[in-house]
Amino acid sequence: MKRTLSFEFSRVTEAAALAAYSWLGRGNKNAADEAAVKAMRFMLNQMEIRGEVVIGEGEIDEAPMLYIGEKIGLSRLEDEEISIAVDPIDGTRITSMGQSNALSVLAAGGKETFLKAPDMYMEKLVVGPECKGMIDLNLPLEQNLRRVASKKGKLLSQLTIAILAKPRHEQIIADVQKLGVRVIAIPDGDVAAAVQCCLPDGELDLLYGIGGAPEGVVAGAAIRALGGDMNAKLIPRNQVKGNSPEHLTATEKELSRCKEMNVPINIVLKLEDLVRDDNIVFVATGITSGDLLKGIKRRGNIASTETLLIRGKSRTIRKIQSDHYIDRKDNELLSLMDL
Ligand code: FBP
Repeated sequence: MKRTLSFEFSRVTEAAALAAYSWLGRGNKNAADEAAVKAMRFMLNQMEIRGEVVIGEGEIDEAPMLYIGEKIGLSRLEDEEISIAVDPIDGTRITSMGQSNALSVLAAGGKETFLKAPDMYMEKLVVGPECKGMIDLNLPLEQNLRRVASKKGKLLSQLTIAILAKPRHEQIIADVQKLGVRVIAIPDGDVAAAVQCCLPDGELDLLYGIGGAPEGVVAGAAIRALGGDMNAKLIPRNQVKGNSPEHLTATEKELSRCKEMNVPINIVLKLEDLVRDDNIVFVATGITSGDLLKGIKRRGNIASTETLLIRGKSRTIRKIQSDHYIDRKDNELLSLMDL
């Protein structure tokens, strides 16, 4: 993938984050997501790429835009073939409630770079570069914690782990705390936490928990680009949410999609299975402020964004601060952003 493309991708998440911002704190997570999706798609379609969405908003019958398999970009023969994994908002609920840590995020790489997986649940275990090769999701979490502590020369009480604060994790959180490990229980948004595990100045040692598979693959791009490590397992919905008729129907669909896509369920996948190449770009723009990125600030006609741009090949980490003069934006984009 051409190096110059990476900057173009930062314009895509900036636009999506700005679009999401207009819905900040308005209690309508679907409207926020729709606005971010539209802006992201508009920007991607201006790019000189033959792109395909491999991780997106869901299947074609449930997502009118940025669905898995959607072709994007100018798609001329001379354009480069690129796979794109998108999450226009990681943290739709937190955006709608005006809470911290929401991002607009995407990852891009060459053809066949990313695992193609349906929109389902994924169990994830993430560590930074120092502990590459030290984790195994087949082992109990306690054993993984002990391995990480010993590799880092720390006591368990000196480790910090992020876990999504969901009812399904309550017992795990209590067990980990009993070991003396510090738990940061995040209400939503595990992409930011995964990236923080791998950044040189990040304060998290691990991320563990069951979250979305799309978020897992997108985060995998940043983890690989930064030299960290990840194990993951696709988990059917009924194992996470129970056996109600609604969850069983969703589970059946997931199982048949996994079969079609030839991806294994309940089997540990390594980082290399999720992201197969180093020539990747990860880009995220803050919607609301969090430990990873500042959120959008609006002063009259100017909206400021902060974007993290990571290139895997060179392992370059950039933070881009931008001031957007809203009255100078393309009219079509502006109407999508509703700023
Ligand atoms: P959304 O933006 O789609 O709401 O995702 C937020 C998130 O917290 C992810 O970061 C996480 O992987 C997933 O939801 C967990 O799923 P669930 O909310 O169903 O437990």
